[in-house]
Amino acid sequence: MRTVYVNGEYLPENEAKVSIFDRGFLMADGVYEVTSVLDGKLIDFDGHAARLERSLGELEMASPVTRDELLAIHRELVSRNGIDQGLIYLQITRGAPADRDFAFPDPDETPSSIVLFTQNKPDLAGNPVARKGIRIISIEDVRWGRRDIKTVQLLYPSMGKMMARKAGVDDAWMVQDGYVTEGTSNNAYIVKDGKIITRERSNDILHGITRAAVLRFAAEAQMQVEERNFTVAEAQAADEAFITSASTFVMPVVEIDGTQVGDGTPGPVAARLREIYLEESRKVAL
Ligand code: PDD
Repeated sequence: MRTVYVNGEYLPENEAKVSIFDRGFLMADGVYEVTSVLDGKLIDFDGHAARLERSLGELEMASPVTRDELLAIHRELVSRNGIDQGLIYLQITRGAPADRDFAFPDPDETPSSIVLFTQNKPDLAGNPVARKGIRIISIEDVRWGRRDIKTVQLLYPSMGKMMARKAGVDDAWMVQDGYVTEGTSNNAYIVKDGKIITRERSNDILHGITRAAVLRFAAEAQMQVEERNFTVAEAQAADEAFITSASTFVMPVVEIDGTQVGDGTPGPVAARLREIYLEESRKVAL
């Protein structure tokens, strides 16, 4: 049984409880982060901690912990649960006031709630899917306008994953005004004539921590990067496509809406980026 962290306590998962009045439960009034673990160490912890702080700030939500306390909790959970490869899920909500009310509670009376738990994924880095690639469909992006804030409001991404499953594929890319925004839980890229193309950062997409690292490593490896919008048709005609996220790192996309990308197998740019990302991130893992 897992040991999880809830509001200052380490508990067996079946003893960990949050209130029915928690605003995360009633209003999706909360933010989260997913940090990967390789070799028992945290990948890009500081990136995730910085984005968490930004999400909290945008929602005027107080953090119940400092960056150093957060790091200590992550490490303690990795150690108590014996995680070599896996994920750490962290969620902070605006806490549990005495009753349901749309207005934010006074933070002095209602402290934020914090929950963390581990997910053991022994195959995270060696994921065999990366050698085959994934197939996706495109769906309309009907999410709210602040996708740069990593909120727990994940109903539409869940519906998107189910639409993909019903279509017999692995995931979905979302499209707004004719242009791809991002994947249901990842950032989206294409490669054309050696150039890596991905949508620029704005409130329309989550500013992926893996995205930032991958673009940095790509530039360091003298690869060309262009941050601009692209359409599904352009992606279908590209040489390669791929996604990035903390849980998939760099994952090739080999089919979009039934059309093969390139020759329908993972391309060299995505493969190289995955290798560089894993190697460089492991070197500086905490
Ligand atoms: N998802 N875009 C969306 C909509 C996401 O939910 C995620 C992450 C990303 C990639 O961000 P990062 O590289 O920081 O993981 C982009 C996480 C992994 C999840 O919900 O499980």
